[in-house]
Amino acid sequence: MPQCNVKPAEGKLGIMVVGNGAVATTFMTGVLMTRKGLAKPIGSMTQYDKMRIGKGADKKYLHYKDIVPLADLNDIVFGCWDVYPQNAYQSAMYAEVLKEKDIEPVRDELEKIVPMKAAFDKNYAKRLDGDNVKTNDKGQMPTRWEMVEALKQDIHDFKAKNQCARIVVLWAASTEIYVPVDEQVHYTLEALEKAMKDDDREHIAPSMCYAYAALTEGAPFIMGAPNTTVDIPAMWELAEKTKMPIAGKDFKTGQTLVKSGFSPIIGTRCLGLSGWFSTNILGNRDGLVLDEPANFRTKEVSKLSTLETILKPDVQPDLYGHGNDEDTQYYHKVRINYYPPRNDNKEGWDNIDIFGWMGYPMQIKINFLCRDSILAAPLCLDLCLLSDLAARAGRYGTQRFLSFFLKSPMHDYTKGEEAVNHLYQQYTMLKNAIREMGGYEADEEID
Ligand SMILES: NC(=O)c1ccc[n+]([C@@H]2O[C@H](COP(=O)([O-])OP(=O)(O)OC[C@H]3O[C@@H](n4cnc5c(N)ncnc54)[C@H](O)[C@@H]3O)[C@@H](O)[C@H]2O)c1
Repeated sequence: MPQCNVKPAEGKLGIMVVGNGAVATTFMTGVLMTRKGLAKPIGSMTQYDKMRIGKGADKKYLHYKDIVPLADLNDIVFGCWDVYPQNAYQSAMYAEVLKEKDIEPVRDELEKIVPMKAAFDKNYAKRLDGDNVKTNDKGQMPTRWEMVEALKQDIHDFKAKNQCARIVVLWAASTEIYVPVDEQVHYTLEALEKAMKDDDREHIAPSMCYAYAALTEGAPFIMGAPNTTVDIPAMWELAEKTKMPIAGKDFKTGQTLVKSGFSPIIGTRCLGLSGWFSTNILGNRDGLVLDEPANFRTKEVSKLSTLETILKPDVQPDLYGHGNDEDTQYYHKVRINYYPPRNDNKEGWDNIDIFGWMGYPMQIKINFLCRDSILAAPLCLDLCLLSDLAARAGRYGTQRFLSFFLKSPMHDYTKGEEAVNHLYQQYTMLKNAIREMGGYEADEEID
């Protein structure tokens, strides 16, 4: 038997979710229902996928939990923060993602998940007006450093009260306004800490306070929105210093999942692309926040990044080098339209203009009638369990093997590293990390 160098998953795992909205409550309800044998965690790789270990006559296909020690669903304890005070039962009912019959059996447990006060700055999400927010002694918004200290206390108290052995912090809160990376503030930990202490509200998003608090309390941090929070060198430095894993950003759920799985068809067959237009209609609170241009900008940057590393104009100028923005590559446009009647049932349309032999044009249309939170919930579970696994395996810093679950995967852009967006390359990275943690050899075979 190979030597598995991962510490066992003993004791309770506290999953502290920032945000108690549609995604968070669908995730929590699904885990609690699964635990009771009343639902199945469909879409979760850690619960369903079987992967090969070994080769030739020795090969076997095993579930992840039979290769590496994963936390058991029964050992999970949930906590959360939100701007609104409603407990997870009320919030799940409000979100209307799940039917009442799929929530009621775990009502008691959900009612006990009461959000702690949020570290919030309205300038980062103008459309939200909840009052369950942290204030300082003077009743005002705390400074960024006071936010960090209060969040550290929350994590510490939650861990002690629930007797958790380990904590993971997951951001499933609203998309904040776009914070461009600033070399003066975001490139070193020293500068970041100084900006927090100076209460630099322009460069320090509240989400950075959550990430800082999590890492310094010994908890991995996962960014499920497109916020640049941990996608800055200062946070990479903090993750190295605290020896904690970080992952992000933006759950890869509907349209981008399709894009990163479908675009390799075009690239692999050497077909040309002149344009890809993606639009969505969405009516939940996420859609409301994204209706604000400054918040949409964060999402747009994340959604646009997917194709660039799969269909590369510089590598194949004949195929991908014209049609658009300054005639240097295909035209890629993404839109999100807030449309309340659809609530969480997002409709994503893709119009893809391709061309073939001698440049003759063709079109592909994809219409995905999806359910946003139903697609995001299994990703929340997998990202939490695998980040906890990574921490026990002694891995720290950006966990590139988790790119499979993320729309805009983190990579070291200061060294010219590229993100891996191709779904099947990401899957290979995921499997190889699990093989290695389980003491098996990594390989590139396709199955
Ligand atoms: N569902 C998907 O398919 C999908 C895919 C990718 C990313 N996301 C992202 O996941 C996030 C959650 O989506 P959702 O549909 O659950 O949204 P939602 O609006 O239902 O829930 C988000 C919650 O976060 C809370 N919040 C905002 N700022 C906060 C702060 N500073 N601290 C604590 N709580 C805060 C809000 O009050 C709200 O209740 C969004 O950022 C969304 O863009 C979702």
